[in-house]
Amino acid sequence: MTKEDIKEMVSCYMIDTYERFDFVAETAKDMYIYDENGDAYLDFYAGIAVNSAGNCNEAVVAAVRDQVGDIMHTFNYPYTIPQALLAKKICTTIGMDKIFFQNSGTEANEAMIKMARKYGTENYGPDKYEIITAKASFHGRTFGAMSATGQPATACQIGFGSMTPGFVYAEFNNLDSFKDAVTENTIAILVEPIQGEGGVHPATKEFMQGLRALCDEKKLLLLLDEVQTGWCRTGEVMAYMHYDVKPDIVSMAKAMGGGMPIGAICANREVAGAFSMGAHGTTYGGNPVCCAAALAQIEELLDRDLAGNAKKMGEYFMNLLKQLPNVKEVRGMGLLVGVEFDDSISGVDVKHKCYDNKLLLTAIGRHMIRMVPPLILSEKECDEAFHIIQKSIQELK
Ligand SMILES: Cc1ncc(COP(=O)(O)O)c(C=O)c1O
Repeated sequence: MTKEDIKEMVSCYMIDTYERFDFVAETAKDMYIYDENGDAYLDFYAGIAVNSAGNCNEAVVAAVRDQVGDIMHTFNYPYTIPQALLAKKICTTIGMDKIFFQNSGTEANEAMIKMARKYGTENYGPDKYEIITAKASFHGRTFGAMSATGQPATACQIGFGSMTPGFVYAEFNNLDSFKDAVTENTIAILVEPIQGEGGVHPATKEFMQGLRALCDEKKLLLLLDEVQTGWCRTGEVMAYMHYDVKPDIVSMAKAMGGGMPIGAICANREVAGAFSMGAHGTTYGGNPVCCAAALAQIEELLDRDLAGNAKKMGEYFMNLLKQLPNVKEVRGMGLLVGVEFDDSISGVDVKHKCYDNKLLLTAIGRHMIRMVPPLILSEKECDEAFHIIQKSIQELK
């Protein structure tokens, strides 16, 4: 089958919501993806912040192979070994009491929203379910998560009719804006520690600690969406560890599964109690193959100190990126990195040129590129990516 055959079939049969890279991804290893001709692309998007221990990490692949031959799926009636081991590993590593497994980031956020609302109505009355989220946030594509997303004028919300009620939006990194949004019906505040889709904006320490204090004062829950920032990407295991705050519920997905679809929420014991028998459920969440993969992935991330490497390489790479032409600002934390160019440079054009030059990255907004490479990278790959971006910008002029 040729690339053209494959493209023809996709165009004929698939509902098309994605702007594709013009190649067939046939294999991948560590920092590279290989196309139908065996050409290598330097991977600075990692399946959107997923393949953090490297593409096709050997330990993850072995764990999947081992588990798939034993038992692939059971639903959550019987106990399974990978599920129990993963639950203990995650809770003890990040210091949370309880976990609930889901299949993706948006589902994890749905679970987080549902848990907070149920906790609110059960403890304080039927109207206590409002959640304050941030403008320009991104929480996913299912109705609760997309309603929590503070982007009313973008394709993720336009044309879908009314959003789920119960969400109020405040300015990210503006504590007063969140304080002003609190009403008698508010039960929780939900933010990303770094707004990724919203333009790579890290929360300030003052803001994050201020939110925690506000939640404590008003008896609100602090919900953190760590779907993109969790599991070592920012230079700590979870991004909230940079801020010396602890959430009441945190969501995670992406990097935790190393390429297998899994997400989760972790909550403190009291709040987790809102999910009583039958209150929530999922057919696939906690699937043993995904749990085995996630356990192997998390062990790789921790044992190889890939958070430490993300911190070190993030600093090195961001310093290089500041030397690019037409840069307005380089922002990020660890290896969640964004470059904002001046108005003369389009992020999408840079993305396309980098693709031509065999570097894969993503564009966000009009003048930004975002990079979320595997956390195993070295200075050599940072240099290589920098030179390709530099050359690509020159070629655009
Ligand atoms: C912060 C954040 N939350 C939620 C999601 C949704 O995750 P998923 O695509 O796994 O549903 C994303 C995806 O990019 C994200 O970045």
